[in-house]
Amino acid sequence: MKKTVATLLNQQVNKELYSAYLYLEFNNMLADMGLAGFAHWLRIQVMEERDHAMLFYDYLHHNNQKVELEAIEQPKTEAKTVMQILQASLEHEEFITDSIHNIYEAALKEKDYRTKGFLDWFVKEQGEEENNFHTLIDKVKILGEDTKGLYVLDRELATRVYVAPSLTIT
Ligand code: FEO
Repeated sequence: MKKTVATLLNQQVNKELYSAYLYLEFNNMLADMGLAGFAHWLRIQVMEERDHAMLFYDYLHHNNQKVELEAIEQPKTEAKTVMQILQASLEHEEFITDSIHNIYEAALKEKDYRTKGFLDWFVKEQGEEENNFHTLIDKVKILGEDTKGLYVLDRELATRVYVAPSLTIT
């Protein structure tokens, strides 16, 4: 594996762990607002981000690359309301999508078709991640940010079930 690709994959481990940390902070804020369903939904998102980080980690090891574990930044957010939390989450996912596309381009440039194949799953996954937050934003818009609207949605979000990633490193 070329150094440029390995470095970007290594940085992605940290970005995915930061994503988990950011969503843990949102879980924290939503639990504090008494929105247990929203908090639960974000808690599952934390688990998914941890899975993503471990997939990059395992992929690097599988390619005989030692991972450089770096400090995870403290989550910083200006978000205060439910809508602001969801919009900040969507913006973060768009940032992660760009980051993955950037590795994809580097892999193609280096003719690293194995990494390209590995990243194909993440390209699709990012479409789902962005769509999840878009859908939630739309639902909050429809039901409203008042207590009744949030209560109805909160009950629905409490039913989200964790699903392990379909990708495995072999
Ligand atoms: Fe791991 Fe939400 O992207």
